[in-house]
Amino acid sequence: MSIKSNINEIRSEFDSDFCILESGQLEYKEIFYKYLGRKGLIVALYPLLSTVEVSEKPKLGNEINSLKNYISEKLSVFESNLTSEDNSKDLLDLSLPSLDKSIGSIHPITLIIDEIQNIFKKIGFSSIYGPEVDSDYYNFEALNIPKHHPARDMQDTFYTKDSNLLRTHTSGSQIHFMENSSPPIRILSPGRVYRNEDISVRSYCLFHQIEGLYVDEKVTFSDLKGTLDYFAKEFFGPDTKTRFRPSYFPFTEPSAEMDVYWGLENESDYRITKGTGWLEILGCGMVDPEVFKSVKIDPDKYKGYAFGLGIERIAMLKYGIEDIRMLFDGDIRFLRQFK
Ligand code: DAH
Repeated sequence: MSIKSNINEIRSEFDSDFCILESGQLEYKEIFYKYLGRKGLIVALYPLLSTVEVSEKPKLGNEINSLKNYISEKLSVFESNLTSEDNSKDLLDLSLPSLDKSIGSIHPITLIIDEIQNIFKKIGFSSIYGPEVDSDYYNFEALNIPKHHPARDMQDTFYTKDSNLLRTHTSGSQIHFMENSSPPIRILSPGRVYRNEDISVRSYCLFHQIEGLYVDEKVTFSDLKGTLDYFAKEFFGPDTKTRFRPSYFPFTEPSAEMDVYWGLENESDYRITKGTGWLEILGCGMVDPEVFKSVKIDPDKYKGYAFGLGIERIAMLKYGIEDIRMLFDGDIRFLRQFK
């Protein structure tokens, strides 16, 4: 048998022994001495070199050396793993508390939306969702905001290349929904809205609103006031005071804004409420007959009210968040606090 085939045979025998060693059915020492011991298989290869041609010697010598290195390397890695496993066994302390496997938390914006949906669900409002990329028609035109109407200046709009837009408010969901349904209608529509505003502590290019809409035969402004007052007391507490101030929105007539009384006891109350003690939380009003006409609902037969709430505003108040950007940064040190 040639040295070459001897070398190959020893290598494959070692490989299969090594597998057995790994499976724990063979002792490390046993295999070590079998191959690398003073009377081992490797040492026994060297004398065979004297039987080959001089020109072959260096090449075969190298091959024996590399087989020897291969075997000693594999065995020494195996042995050092063994020792570190032994150490870790010593260090295993079963009385230690388990590692913190943190699970996620619900984002404060989602918490607020869920809570508001639950409050309105109790009085029969269900939730629907409108598209975030919408057309000029749904975001403006059908809401009685014609082209060149000054109200369009109130909102800086992101337009898409195909001349659609990112909705600037959730009011367009009213149109989408009314187009495909007939009164009575009682819906909420939460979602993201976008405005091209400078980013600061108070404003962000993306935020959330909840739209509310109620349409039936005899809906009055006092229904609107009663519903929103109920909401404020459920959300902020039974002693919450609210007030309505006249306002203007093209899609409601008359229009109003609702404030809740925040208090005026310390410096931060002064700052948050601009010295009035009151905080605006939503816009609202009676659905303008022009809006009903654009969705083919008879304005002589039906009346309705609508409102739009800013979620970030409410989240910042509820949780004492001073910088709106924290709601969008995704910093888990912040988010963890909402477990
Ligand atoms: N869409 C208004 C805004 O983004 C908020 C609003 C006001 C919604 C009055 C309404 C409403 O439904 O009746 O500022």
